[in-house]
Amino acid sequence: METGVSGRTAVLSGAAKPSGLGYAFSEGLAREGVNIVIADIEDGSESAAALRRLGVKAQFVRCNVADEADVSALAAEVGREFGGCDILIHCASPFPTHHLDDMEFAEWKLVTSVNLDGMFLLAHAFLPGMKERGWGRIIPISSTTYHAGLGGRTHYVAAKAGLIGLTRSLAREVGDYGVTVNALAPGLVRTQGAADSHVADPVYSGEDPYSIIREQQCIRQSLLPANLVGPLLFLASDQSAYVTGQTLLVDAGWQHVG
Ligand SMILES: NC(=O)c1ccc[n+]([C@@H]2O[C@H](COP(=O)([O-])OP(=O)(O)OC[C@H]3O[C@@H](n4cnc5c(N)ncnc54)[C@H](O)[C@@H]3O)[C@@H](O)[C@H]2O)c1
Repeated sequence: METGVSGRTAVLSGAAKPSGLGYAFSEGLAREGVNIVIADIEDGSESAAALRRLGVKAQFVRCNVADEADVSALAAEVGREFGGCDILIHCASPFPTHHLDDMEFAEWKLVTSVNLDGMFLLAHAFLPGMKERGWGRIIPISSTTYHAGLGGRTHYVAAKAGLIGLTRSLAREVGDYGVTVNALAPGLVRTQGAADSHVADPVYSGEDPYSIIREQQCIRQSLLPANLVGPLLFLASDQSAYVTGQTLLVDAGWQHVG
């Protein structure tokens, strides 16, 4: 598949950890010749160095995406070093788990803010450049849990639903500028972030969520980050130029919607 993205620049929030989805997406894009900026609160300098070894320009910028000043500093750095962002992928999210009646308001605000305020701030920072250049891809990382519902994560699922609402609405504002907005909704994927969240999980309480959810999927195999890279590349590429406002579920057939 000719992706047509070589030489473009992608900014990926939440892509610092080599075990995570964001890093798998970065690697897939880098193999297509896309320059990469990793924006994360955790150190992503080793990940950026590994991407540079694939022959692209890659940089880590420490950034809390829910903080306006941090995102402005990120945008300034991306402008200076890369000349702007063509592909924006918002992967950053914390994963605390509590039933709603045990949840502190601060935890609710953290999860909704990183997902939604983060998306607003990133899109607000990078959209003007995309419109000016007449090409852009905005890809919020949502979650199949929006379609399934999942106890212990009301904040998370509400925030992931919000990203789908933003996707549908922002797509209507920017289509005439060559910019598409499509959410990617993974099912349960084997990442360190997801595994850590299951340790204190009030829903699965000691049982293995992977084996439970696997039995509910059409394809009864646990997803790995690599399994989502092809769909992500499609949404980031010229191949999807006339797909916008959509949510692509990549969940091995866990949920059927549409
Ligand atoms: N793994 C799954 O099963 C699964 C399923 C559906 C959706 N997702 C989504 O995929 C994305 C990546 O998750 P993952 O499983 O790869 O886990 P991960 O822990 O590797 O990724 C999350 C990243 O977000 C970063 N982050 C957290 N708060 C931040 C902030 N304020 N600013 C910047 N970065 C911040 C973390 O440091 C981490 O690197 C998340 O949005 C997650 O909700 C994951």
